[in-house]
Amino acid sequence: MAEIYDIIIFGASGFTGKHVVKEALKFLSPNSPLKSLALAGRNPSKLVETLKWASTSTSHPAIPVIVADTSDPPSLRRMASQTKLVVNCVGPFRLHGDPVVAACVESGCDYLDICGEPEFMERMEAVYHEKAVETGSLVVSACGFDSVPAELGFLFNSRQWVSPAVPNRVQAYISPESDKRIVGNFATFVSAVLGMTNADKLKKLRRSGRKRTRPSIPGYAPPKGSTIEHQKKIGVWAVKLPSADATIVRRTLSMFTDNRSGLQGVNENAKQAEKRVAFWSKVKPAHFGVKIATKNLVGILRIIGMGLSIRLLGRYFFGRWLLLNFPSVFSLGLFRKNGPTDDEIASAGFKMWFLGRGFSDTNVVSEEPDTEIITRVTGPELGYVTTPIVLVQCALTVLEQRGDLPKGGVFPPGIVFGPTDLQDRLQENGISFDVISRSWISNKM
Ligand SMILES: NC(=O)c1ccc[n+]([C@@H]2O[C@H](COP(=O)([O-])OP(=O)(O)OC[C@H]3O[C@@H](n4cnc5c(N)ncnc54)[C@H](OP(=O)(O)O)[C@@H]3O)[C@@H](O)[C@H]2O)c1
Repeated sequence: MAEIYDIIIFGASGFTGKHVVKEALKFLSPNSPLKSLALAGRNPSKLVETLKWASTSTSHPAIPVIVADTSDPPSLRRMASQTKLVVNCVGPFRLHGDPVVAACVESGCDYLDICGEPEFMERMEAVYHEKAVETGSLVVSACGFDSVPAELGFLFNSRQWVSPAVPNRVQAYISPESDKRIVGNFATFVSAVLGMTNADKLKKLRRSGRKRTRPSIPGYAPPKGSTIEHQKKIGVWAVKLPSADATIVRRTLSMFTDNRSGLQGVNENAKQAEKRVAFWSKVKPAHFGVKIATKNLVGILRIIGMGLSIRLLGRYFFGRWLLLNFPSVFSLGLFRKNGPTDDEIASAGFKMWFLGRGFSDTNVVSEEPDTEIITRVTGPELGYVTTPIVLVQCALTVLEQRGDLPKGGVFPPGIVFGPTDLQDRLQENGISFDVISRSWISNKM
């Protein structure tokens, strides 16, 4: 079957999926890279409802509805064979993602998703990378808040270090902000519970796989520090976030170490090749970590409480039953079965700070960094506004700059989108990248 659609949004009826549809409709036009779109999912009447909900203020051409279910691989193959690109919003990806990636890789279409589950992403790379290179299917997970702000934000900070200055570490602090409650939808809570309770599978996968190349980073690895950090410079309390961000940035840095000029585009011209080489020539690897931050200590204690309840209860069958049946109670109000309200979404936003510390002269690397560069990524509510913006801009980048991207393979977003126009596109759509300060530090960290 010939490709009919530029993009198919799979899982369009979900909490995130419907916001992705709304965002995509803004760009559907004969003059845009997105000229045709279809919605897919297991329930056609819900898809029709989604379209009605998302189309309220936009006039657009007819948008077909395609029935596909992750438990029915032929339906996924039919879906994949009709499009250039599948945008997948069906999660938890650990439960539903594999057959969708398999169908896309087999048909040779491209695939993006909003997964934040490291085990799924690394497993897809291990299983499908070689076949995807062969069939020309570009598979990029984590094209949402997880983990594009972290990837592009890290690269942005790292590129501010002008030789002979070099970074040694970049610590990111995600600070969700709102005057109302900050709430996530149930599926993300389930993904987090399954991630924590299956942590041993990720360890096993990493042990059995090929060792990744480690980048060479000047100076010593930063000390672990205390569990709860009071970060006075940006006025927050913070604790380590076991999200996908740090693992994805490490994958990009490892691929960059193997390919110092990035990944060659399948059909790139000399100008784009020059742009790509120039982009990567300014990137400097550094140790990277991510913390979740709140303005007061109570907020951090609440996050720690949720983490502990998942870790303790998640070990037992009955504990998991409690977690999944009473998410609001055991997440201490941070997740809800029916997600945040429109008001809660509208009033929220995020700041993601990147505190880079390093050396003013790569030839004089001492024990302690002497230079600090702080950068920041800011945007609207992270789960259901920023994630659709990021996903749709990644999709438009794939459509518009396909020749500048690798022929196929399974990659993290940073190594693929770093040298493209994605950061400018995000900036134009309300997600900003700013340099906050550059300073000399003489004190110990
Ligand atoms: N990267 C990020 O920052 C980010 C942000 C937000 C969400 N997420 C992730 O995105 C995923 C979805 O979250 P959500 O809150 O939107 O979840 P949701 O509201 O539960 O939506 C799930 C979607 O998957 C569909 N689905 C479920 N089982 C299916 C099957 N067997 N075949 C086909 N479709 C199926 C559902 O269809 P029905 O409508 O028919 O039930 C629905 O459209 C989660 O993994 C979440 O963690 C990531």
